[in-house]
Amino acid sequence: MSSSKNNGLCIKELQVEYKSGQLALGQVNLTLPEHGIYTIIGPSGSGKSTLLRAVAGLLPGYEGELLFNGKSVHDKETLIGLVPQNYGLLPWKTVHDNIQIAMKITRPAGGRKETQEAQITHWLESMGISELAARYPLSLSGGQQQRVAIARAFAIQPTILLLDEPFSALDAITREALQQIFLDNWLANPATTLFVTHDVEEAILLGQRIIVMPSSKQDTPEILDNAAVFAMKHEDKRDSDDYFEQSKRIRKVMLTKW
Ligand SMILES: Nc1ncnc2c1ncn2[C@@H]1O[C@H](COP(=O)(O)OP(=O)(O)O)[C@@H](O)[C@H]1O
Ligand SMILES: [Mg+2]
Repeated sequence: MSSSKNNGLCIKELQVEYKSGQLALGQVNLTLPEHGIYTIIGPSGSGKSTLLRAVAGLLPGYEGELLFNGKSVHDKETLIGLVPQNYGLLPWKTVHDNIQIAMKITRPAGGRKETQEAQITHWLESMGISELAARYPLSLSGGQQQRVAIARAFAIQPTILLLDEPFSALDAITREALQQIFLDNWLANPATTLFVTHDVEEAILLGQRIIVMPSSKQDTPEILDNAAVFAMKHEDKRDSDDYFEQSKRIRKVMLTKW
């Protein structure tokens, strides 16, 4: 069994029912290598958020197994960062303090205050929101809140990073810019990442593989290899033949599974 020790995030026969008794997520089997990034697309209600919540440890119960390098993903040593669909910011804390408190909670031993401040400054800058540090979340636009949530997720340097449609509130231009910034940051420090999106283009631009969720809970997800596109320079991806082929492939899967 030693070969299964270091194989990253392993989702085995995961199935989720909420209290209502209705199936929220049909069976999912998936292995995401450590330091890998997969994107997930699927119709509304197909269980994308539920899948992330299960991995994040936010569900009271589920069937199946969630392992990271052979141990339960919910062991203390695995730090999981989640950017939820509603951004998950604390409204009574400033942008700066939202990031600071997350760093404090996730690493109580902490490190020096100056180092922490430098980190906060760095992540605010890289998300282009330095000027928002003293503002409160509810005074920000949805897109600005999303950037704060992403800065916070990067700042805690999680082992596993889970993002739930993190760019959905951004306009097309900002979104493209942020995709590039996100990927650059991810490449510099590649957490094991699941990235949920409802945008086919985004799924192809950001994932090493693309998981297409079915609309029926009886059906299984389709997993497409996207290594060819992923290996390209980000700015070349959109105009490549591989990108075009991939988008045709996904649309075909969508026709049968959605
Ligand atoms: N807290 C909840 N209680 C009961 N049912 C839920 C809850 N959250 C989601 N569901 C149901 O689970 C299914 C999957 O939802 P969700 O994971 O939010 O899908 P997606 O993110 O793909 O839109 C849907 O049928 C939804 O109505
Ligand atoms: Mg969702």
